[in-house]
Amino acid sequence: MAKIQKIKGFVDLFPDEAAKYTFMESAARGTFSRYGFGELRTPVLEKTELFAKSIGEDTDVVGKEMFTFPDRKDRSLTMRPEATAGVVRAFIESKTHQPGKVSKFFTIGPMFRYERPQKGRQRQFHQINAEIFGAPEPQADGELILMLRSFLNRLGLTKLTIELNSLGCHKCRPSYKQALIDFYKSKDKALFCEDCQRRMETNPLRVLDCKVPACKELVADAPVITDHLCDECETHFSDVKTILNGAGAAYELNPRLVRGLDYYVRTCFEVSSNDIGSQTAVAGGGRYDGLIRNLGGGDCAATGFACGMERLALLLGEMEPARPDFYLAVVDKDAANAAMLFAQQLRDKGLTGETGFAGGSMKSRMRAANKSGAKVCLIMGGDELQNETITVKYMDEERDQETLDRKLYLASL
Ligand code: HAM
Repeated sequence: MAKIQKIKGFVDLFPDEAAKYTFMESAARGTFSRYGFGELRTPVLEKTELFAKSIGEDTDVVGKEMFTFPDRKDRSLTMRPEATAGVVRAFIESKTHQPGKVSKFFTIGPMFRYERPQKGRQRQFHQINAEIFGAPEPQADGELILMLRSFLNRLGLTKLTIELNSLGCHKCRPSYKQALIDFYKSKDKALFCEDCQRRMETNPLRVLDCKVPACKELVADAPVITDHLCDECETHFSDVKTILNGAGAAYELNPRLVRGLDYYVRTCFEVSSNDIGSQTAVAGGGRYDGLIRNLGGGDCAATGFACGMERLALLLGEMEPARPDFYLAVVDKDAANAAMLFAQQLRDKGLTGETGFAGGSMKSRMRAANKSGAKVCLIMGGDELQNETITVKYMDEERDQETLDRKLYLASL
């Protein structure tokens, strides 16, 4: 019979790999709680219009990459391609915002994008996401970037590049957009890809983000946003840079960084690595002050970032598995029940370990004990069963094995 296989771009994480995810999640929880972030868990399925309205119809994510389908009542639903839109929706719906109040949320979970799978790029992938609502100040952007850096340092990842840019605001961006349109007009339109030919008028910034090599070359000398910032955006950007400088956080200014989602204003950033193949971005984020209002909430500033866990996992390398406290070797099958129950008592005491259920020769049991990496091997055979004892073999110590009363051994732990 043909075996049922997993869907393309969807991955099973077995214990060795899953351990990296648990490690990243606890590092994130540990780091973010120091900054006052609370966890928010939102659904993976949302109404399609949520993403279309927030990420932007003209983006690759909304235009090409969403898992969208009708439900049984023909309503269009989408598997979330990112967390921010859902977090904003939940925040607005909870009606918890009050003017002047700052709210901080983090969220961890799977996201879905119909992209071509390759190293570091899956159709189901996982993000660690952090968002601050209600803080228009540049210090909020600074805090986020420094928190992201602390989290990455905690993972032992120190060789990453932070790229930084400002995307301006509704006041200064129109003049930049016009400068871009004028620039595109000076080029032969036919040389751009089809998407860009359309976007150069409707969404001129998106052309700067196009991955097609010909388009990349054509925009190499396009005007840069940082020459068009209004005074407020200029001051905001300069404060963010001052904070990062003050913290000794190295970053590179990249005036061409536009990010792949439409909601950003002012600060945007991306963290990348050269050690994981062509998908170099491990994290990205920025400020999106207008989004809460666009989705029907009041005026409320917002800034955030997301890390891609698959890409961070590539950088983490192999994790050392934790060593179990014991391995319980059953060398007489009559002792199997008593051994299993004894192992249960050990675990109730807080020890970790396992028992080979089936029993077997002393040689094969010792091989299994060695393989498990346990600190002690507990041996249970016919004699131990009859005398209510346990034989303890110390795997790390130059110490003879000893046979002890089972109850006394338990009491000594
Ligand atoms: P993003 O840049 O689209 O931003 O995604 C953030 C990170 O998710 C990327 O840097 C990358 O590491 C990872 N990622 C994206 N797509 C894939 C994929 N197909 N496979 C594996 N990893 C992937 C956002 O999603 C924004 N919501 C970030 C944000 C939060 N901005 C403000 N708040």
